[in-house]
Amino acid sequence: MEYDSFSEKDTYEIAKKMASRVKKGTVITLNGDLGVGKTVFTKGFGAGLEISEVISSPTFTILKEYTSGRLPLYHFDVYRIEEPEEMDEIGYEDYFYGEGVSLIEWADNISELIPGDAIRIEIEKDLDKGFDFRRIVVTGEQ
Ligand SMILES: Nc1ncnc2c1ncn2[C@@H]1O[C@H](COP(=O)(O)OP(=O)(O)O)[C@@H](O)[C@H]1O
Ligand SMILES: [Mg+2]
Repeated sequence: MEYDSFSEKDTYEIAKKMASRVKKGTVITLNGDLGVGKTVFTKGFGAGLEISEVISSPTFTILKEYTSGRLPLYHFDVYRIEEPEEMDEIGYEDYFYGEGVSLIEWADNISELIPGDAIRIEIEKDLDKGFDFRRIVVTGEQ
């Protein structure tokens, strides 16, 4: 599935709709360059789960957990991870295979830990289509 986003709001809304379809135990990978909109996507996704807390980038913590919505949201940002063992330390399997939905920014940094049935999202710019244009490519959604 491919979506064309022309604004931050578009990305937010695309993510929000996707969240209304997910079930517990879903793992979603988010890849794409710095500033492409992975955190914007996560905020929209959180809105779709009816999360009332403010979602912010977890860059300095690896994981932030939001529990006020329809399902818990486990928001990972593994940009700074050096080795997969750091994921063991936070007990990642309890989240990936748990009661909520895991969204992982920079998931390519821990590709060996990603479950085979994860939903994979790539966000990319195409400057020919404008500064705010993003193509959002989703694979593995049932
Ligand atoms: N179509 C778009 N979708 C998402 N963000 C966009 C879009 N166009 C411009 N932006 C801007 O790009 C930035 C994306 O930031 P962020 O979500 O933090 O990126 P990332 O988490 O991928 O590093 C924001 O400043 C946002 O306003
Ligand atoms: Mg981010």
